[in-house]
Amino acid sequence: MGDAGIVTGVAVAVVDGTIRDVGQRAALERAYSGATPIDCGGRVLVPGFVDSHTHAIFGKPRFEEQELRASGLDYMEIARRGGGIHASVRDLRRRDEDELLGLAVPRLRRLAASGVTTVEVKSGYGLTPDDEIKSLRVIRRIGEILPMRLVPTWLGAHEIPLEYRDLANGRSEYVRLLVSTMLPGVASEGLARFADVFCEPGVFTIDETRTILTAAKSAGLGLKLHADELRASGGAELAAEIGATSADHLAAISDAGIRVLAESNTVATLLPGTMMFLGKDRQAPARALVDAGAAVALATDFNPGTSPTTNFPLIMTLGVSQLRLSVAETMIASTVNGAAALSLADHVGQIAPGYSADLALFDAEDVRELPYWYGDRRCVATWVRGRACHTSTVDSL
Ligand code: NIG
Ligand code: FE
Repeated sequence: MGDAGIVTGVAVAVVDGTIRDVGQRAALERAYSGATPIDCGGRVLVPGFVDSHTHAIFGKPRFEEQELRASGLDYMEIARRGGGIHASVRDLRRRDEDELLGLAVPRLRRLAASGVTTVEVKSGYGLTPDDEIKSLRVIRRIGEILPMRLVPTWLGAHEIPLEYRDLANGRSEYVRLLVSTMLPGVASEGLARFADVFCEPGVFTIDETRTILTAAKSAGLGLKLHADELRASGGAELAAEIGATSADHLAAISDAGIRVLAESNTVATLLPGTMMFLGKDRQAPARALVDAGAAVALATDFNPGTSPTTNFPLIMTLGVSQLRLSVAETMIASTVNGAAALSLADHVGQIAPGYSADLALFDAEDVRELPYWYGDRRCVATWVRGRACHTSTVDSL
């Protein structure tokens, strides 16, 4: 992760949406003399960012919780009072597909305008078979509208819904609903590529998580976990044990968990925006993970409760300033390893021959400016599969 392969004075040749060649500009201009040139003006061109963890399908924002936290209530306490995830669940259940689509598209456009060309989007604010399917259908429809590459994840196990929390045996009943009704419905419609579980004391236990994800694996889905976010509870170890593609959050991961992840193929996805927005004074042990040999990815965790940002480069700022990663490590975490966290690393996340022409151009002369101008929006153009995503900004090049 220490070498991001930064080069200068080069051009990129794109044929049919795929990168064919990367080399000195004059040589490429000769070799591809019939091609349509785009002059990037000496600015910084990077692989489009891969945001491998978002909860972008939601209704109303939850800005009232920010002040409650400032006054001393914590995330779990707000959830116990019916706020948090439950508030978004109540709200999403009242909305239909078209309404959710209308809310999600502009939010994802903002994310794309920050340089993201691939985005994973989770369901998880429905928590009934119909409302989860509704959310996943919205994700599919976004893919038909926006040129971004979308990866849908089923997160029916985001919370135990209140109607089950109040029942005797409610927990096991809900896990049964997830495995016997929701999962087959999601899988038969081909609506999700991954399954995810919020594995955390007070939400889903290690055993419940294992049950749900083992069933998801049999149904052909890749696996993800929200693991060790608030307390170390063996989530990272479980992720490695069941062959999860990624274990996400990890702010409270144990030393044993770090070792196990480093020896596994599971990507450690860190979400520093979440810890910052929640006002925590702790961040995931990114340095220890990288130094142990784990593949670390960075993502926004874009969601209405704990990380309402659509600014991917801001997460890179936190990667350097809070997680203490180098700029090269931050770049790899935002591209190559983000792609690995979605099982796309063989054709997404690099500017190299054979890779999809998913590119983002920044108004900067040095790649170190991307995390430096924090909170700024300097992405001037993106392309996905060689197609311009933001034509208005491309016109102004
Ligand atoms: O990734 N950790 C659980 N899920 C989200 C929060 C969702 C919410 O508060 O609505 C997260 O931070
Ligand atoms: Fe999350």
